[in-house]
Amino acid sequence: MSRITEIAPDIFRISTFIQELDIQFNQFVVRDEEPLLYHTGMRGLFPLVSEAVAGLIDPNKIRWIGFSHFEADECGALREWQRISPDATAICSLVSKIVSVDDVVAERPARALDDGELLVTGKFRFRFLKTPHVPHAWDAGHLYEENSGTFFSSDLFHQNGDVEPVTSSDIVGRFKEVLIEYQTGPFANYLPYTTKTEQILRRLADLKPKTIASMHGSTFIGDGEAALHDLAQAMKEVLA
Ligand SMILES: [Fe+2]
Ligand SMILES: [Fe+2]
Repeated sequence: MSRITEIAPDIFRISTFIQELDIQFNQFVVRDEEPLLYHTGMRGLFPLVSEAVAGLIDPNKIRWIGFSHFEADECGALREWQRISPDATAICSLVSKIVSVDDVVAERPARALDDGELLVTGKFRFRFLKTPHVPHAWDAGHLYEENSGTFFSSDLFHQNGDVEPVTSSDIVGRFKEVLIEYQTGPFANYLPYTTKTEQILRRLADLKPKTIASMHGSTFIGDGEAALHDLAQAMKEVLA
């Protein structure tokens, strides 16, 4: 079963906990004139996620499907979604589109967004930011919804365990624990630390988000600027 939580008005978190990996996979549905799905989840999750989405909106009416980078949990089920939603178009970086998405997972061509480009879906306004190698992958980008102050953080703020859907407590401590734990096992070097990491994270902090919607773990509601500065410090300490 997937768990649904409204994290901001008309922004919903769909969460499925995978016990063997001790990890939640979250997707976000934004209910608007042009409904948007952020992260498709893996293909194996499609039956569960699509059932959950159907409780919120007509899943055949999804207009935009966003994600950070080319990976199964980000966009693995894009084709499945596009087969049931005839107007659904993927939105991603140009690198994502050209290097992987259009060839591997898209039923029809993705729309590449430029750095700083705005996508208006009705009452919501999504700003796209190019963030190469943050959280990871050359093609990475992020969406920030300006009206609600919601930052869709992908793997940034990753927390393990079947944690609460929403919290106002610190999530950076949990994120740091994941980084430290992963460094000693098969998932070592999960996130890179490059010469651009700090600068990119500072730019994200400058958005001053009120809500941080993480793909793995709780959504954070609070001082997003401080949380991103703390996250930058944690990444530097563990990975630099
Ligand atoms: Fe990822
Ligand atoms: Fe992920």
